Amino acid sequence: MILVTGAAGFIGSNFVLDWLEQHDEPVLNLDKLTYAGNPENLASLRDDPRHVFVQGDIGDRALLDRLLAEHRPRAVINFAAESHVDRSIHGPEDFIQTNVVGTFHLLEAVRAHWGSLDGEAKSAFRFLHVSTDEVYGTLGPGDAPFTETTPYTPNSPYSASKAASDHLVRAYHHTYGLPVLTTNCSNNYGPYHFPEKLIPLMIVNALAGKPLPVYGDGMQVRDWLYVKDHCSAIRRVLEAGTLGETYNVGGWNEKPNIEIVRTVCTLLDELQPRADGQPYSSQVSYVKDRPGHDRRYAIDASKIHRELGWKPAETFDSGIRKTVMWYLAHPDWVAHVQSGDYRHWIGQQYGALA
Ligand code: NAD
Ligand code: DAU
Repeated sequence: MILVTGAAGFIGSNFVLDWLEQHDEPVLNLDKLTYAGNPENLASLRDDPRHVFVQGDIGDRALLDRLLAEHRPRAVINFAAESHVDRSIHGPEDFIQTNVVGTFHLLEAVRAHWGSLDGEAKSAFRFLHVSTDEVYGTLGPGDAPFTETTPYTPNSPYSASKAASDHLVRAYHHTYGLPVLTTNCSNNYGPYHFPEKLIPLMIVNALAGKPLPVYGDGMQVRDWLYVKDHCSAIRRVLEAGTLGETYNVGGWNEKPNIEIVRTVCTLLDELQPRADGQPYSSQVSYVKDRPGHDRRYAIDASKIHRELGWKPAETFDSGIRKTVMWYLAHPDWVAHVQSGDYRHWIGQQYGALA
């Protein structure tokens, strides 16, 4: 079996659903169930014996030791993290605890477990760390996209904490020989995306008749990848990646935020027009910029293509249409995640626009 951490979150839950569509290999899911973890994402696996859920913290060494000894996974895939940049600006401490200290405890537990293996079990074991393109900092308009050798220059507490975790993972390979792999991916979008992030926030706000808050001039650029393509990249790196290497994962889909927002509005105009006939884009509202806002991210994903033969299956047009349709088809999921905690965050972040 494999141990997947943070698999009740957005990407982790998509990964587990995809994994069990392709394999019968069981998944042990360790998730703390923070505000971002949602067991409903995996409701379709409720009676599936291939999925075992344990609520717990990657920083809990005793729990990790027990789970590793009991289940003896052949691989650990670490998605668990605090992942929202804006929250890291309001309160960085949880990001340091989970992304840095938590990853350290997880690495220590995995190192002890791996050290206890021998033969084929030891040589086949893998620790795959899921990271982000944000560790590379920000690009100017004419700069080449990030490659695996771009120096780390993280700019937010979130990206600094992810950079720290990447460095720990790298050091555990270099120092102890731990069989690690790291992926650095660009912005994901798709089903089960928590509506504090740009795309799902725009969809749910548009449908609720609320303002669509665009930070600054809306010309910041992100490189968007449909979440299932990220999942297939992780499967491929796990299967064939070279130990100790990092792989950039991206969709070659650079777009300014305002274009993303307008695309979502146009799709909603087509699929669920407003009762008053007005376009959803009339709800766009420019708001104060994010402090330290990175201007542009772009991923050069040629290494993973060249060495492992991976490329995305979705174009941005096909992926964003699927995403908007998924949100329209799942109003109950949206209603359930908009808990008291969610409303508190939206009120804190957007004030009168909430
Ligand atoms: P998410 O916030 O939706 O989910 C994170 C999950 O981790 C949640 O289920 C949460 O309960 C769990 N978690 C948090 N702290 C934990 C802890 N201490 N112990 C155990 N579980 C804990 O995040 P996501 O968007 O799914 O991102 C998953 C990973 O992918 C993160 O490491 C993130 O940095 C990385 N990543 C995300 C993106 C993106 O666009 N969302 C892009 C590249 C990389
Ligand atoms: O690049 C990968 C990263 O992508 C991941 O590592 C992070 O976990 C993930 O959250 C995401 O980070 P971003 O900061 O790029 O995503 P977010 O959806 O928060 O914002 C995307 C862009 O949209 C960013 O330029 C800020 C802008 N934005 C965001 C929100 C929430 C707005 O203009 N308005 C908003 O209300």
